[in-house]
Amino acid sequence: MTEQTIALVTGANKGIGYEIAAGLGALGWQVGVGARDGQRREAAVAKLRAGGADAFGVPLDVTDDASVAAAARLIEERAGRLDVLVNNAGITGGMPQTPTTVDPETVRAAVEVNVIGVIRVTNAMLPLLRRSASPRIVNMSSTVGSLTRQTTPGAETGPISAAYTPSKTFLNAVTVQYAKELRDTNILINAACPGFTATDLNGFRGVRTPEQGAAIAIRLATLPDDGPTGGFFDDAGVIPW
Ligand SMILES: NC(=O)c1ccc[n+]([C@@H]2O[C@H](COP(=O)([O-])OP(=O)(O)OC[C@H]3O[C@@H](n4cnc5c(N)ncnc54)[C@H](OP(=O)(O)O)[C@@H]3O)[C@@H](O)[C@H]2O)c1
Repeated sequence: MTEQTIALVTGANKGIGYEIAAGLGALGWQVGVGARDGQRREAAVAKLRAGGADAFGVPLDVTDDASVAAAARLIEERAGRLDVLVNNAGITGGMPQTPTTVDPETVRAAVEVNVIGVIRVTNAMLPLLRRSASPRIVNMSSTVGSLTRQTTPGAETGPISAAYTPSKTFLNAVTVQYAKELRDTNILINAACPGFTATDLNGFRGVRTPEQGAAIAIRLATLPDDGPTGGFFDDAGVIPW
């Protein structure tokens, strides 16, 4: 087994995921660039490697059982274990998605990637994570999924949404359930919000850079053994559920 810390970032070919991979690579880690499209994946790996990161491509569509199983096999063959999993891949499902008019397929698509995709990837990687001395799982959520914020007058929680926003609330709930089940293990699992970041996801309307958006995931990926688990954090600290 390699001595080098090994991480997998899903949806790492662009946006925040790419910068998470760059940030973890800068720590001297091996970073698996999970991406579903071969060309976009290899372009990202080449750019990361040119920047000095020990990056490698991991073909990965989080909605596809066979793809996820193959990704786990690839990492097992390469390193024999996984230290850090960042479940970053996400979609909005397409806008508008107001509750009274939404196409149920829009909801299904968002939940399939943002929630079920996370469960699928996490469970496939757990046997490898259990072999690590300090396993960490980071789920990229969003403050828009905070029910407390949504019900606080004046709080900014994005457009009215029956798909993306509730999918992040669902992801938060799932993160808590994993933390409860894994309480007696050394696995720390937390949800993160990158802040409103300029990426394809929002037509580059975000106000933070992808590098800034990546910072919280990098922090949660590098938590000490006595760090928190089952929490929800952004750069400013704990986010209310
Ligand atoms: N940007 C923000 O303001 C913001 C705010 C809060 C939370 N977030 C969350 O941060 C995460 C990253 O978002 P981003 O802003 O960086 O968006 P982005 O630039 O659109 O990147 C999304 C990534 O997810 C990948 N992806 C989508 N569906 C996938 C699938 N089925 N299998 C594998 N990969 C898939 C995309 O790959 P392709 O290139 O192949 O499509 C891409 O690499 C998401 O979970 C998002 O919800 C973002």
